[in-house]
Amino acid sequence: MKVAVIGANGQLGVDVANAFASRGDQVYPLKHSDIEISNCASVSNCLTELRPQLVVNTAAMHHVENCEREPEKAFAINGLGARNLSLAARDIDATLMHVSTDYVFDGDKKSPYVESDVPRPLNVYGITKVSGEYFVRSITNKHFVLRTSAIYGESPCRAKGGLNFIELMLKLARERGEVRVVDSEFVTPTSTAELAQQIVVLSRCDFYGLYHATAEGSCSWYEFAREIFALADVKVSLKVAEPNEFPVKVARPKYSVLENCGLKRKGLNIFRPWQDGVREYLSSARRR
Ligand SMILES: NC(=O)c1ccc[n+]([C@@H]2O[C@H](COP(=O)([O-])OP(=O)(O)OC[C@H]3O[C@@H](n4cnc5c(N)ncnc54)[C@H](OP(=O)(O)O)[C@@H]3O)[C@@H](O)[C@H]2O)c1
Repeated sequence: MKVAVIGANGQLGVDVANAFASRGDQVYPLKHSDIEISNCASVSNCLTELRPQLVVNTAAMHHVENCEREPEKAFAINGLGARNLSLAARDIDATLMHVSTDYVFDGDKKSPYVESDVPRPLNVYGITKVSGEYFVRSITNKHFVLRTSAIYGESPCRAKGGLNFIELMLKLARERGEVRVVDSEFVTPTSTAELAQQIVVLSRCDFYGLYHATAEGSCSWYEFAREIFALADVKVSLKVAEPNEFPVKVARPKYSVLENCGLKRKGLNIFRPWQDGVREYLSSARRR
């Protein structure tokens, strides 16, 4: 299969490109310098020339504070970018695999969100990602929209710069005697290596539609940190941060756990408990 990966040098994009390449697919890894998704002509020219059978879009503007500061830019990338890719994919009869987010929900539900729950985003990032989902779903039938949560991978996240949550915790533990983490926001840490494998599995079928795609289970950021230190055998004093110790400038869902209902119904879910992904990440980090 000929696969174009957009955002190919990003945290998820690197693993997606590797996952397809290792299965023998022909991969076109497209960086920002190769394609500007907010520009219709750039997208159309690039995809018409390459004519991939599958387009995987991992590109986004997803730094939450930056999206709030620059809503037009966030909509141009997360909303219109998804529209431009949908139109171009439809024109060349390619399937579009588009990555979205748990931040489409407001967090009020308190039990895992399923695909049929109605989105109600709390911030510009979430609103623009929902708009992207609707563009994809309304323009091209041959689509997969995958919502994921709290991803971490071996390649750094380009939008947020520097370290993923695991590396940040390990660094703080090395530098300080005490680490303080919030215990009031619940997510599902999901490894990009595992998500990339799920994307490959889905690409082999034509059960198009909207899917939740995260590791199994959930935790608070504090519980995530506790597991990291336990698995890495790091001795550090880990404390729950006081309310408002790390004031947030932009509203975020307190609970954005997703249930992979659609994948399970189709017998396609490959995800393991989130702790397994962290263990695998740490053992591969030790080999690096
Ligand atoms: N990070 C999370 O915890 C999280 C959680 C849920 C969902 N997601 C979603 O997961 C996806 C992947 O996230 P990630 O962490 O892998 O992101 P990332 O590391 O920041 O990578 C994003 C990639 O997209 C490229 N890009 C940005 N704007 C572009 C544009 N206008 N045109 C073309 N390429 C552009 C970036 O290139 P440059 O850096 O050169 O601009 C980079 O290669 C996103 O859709 C995000 O919304 C992330």
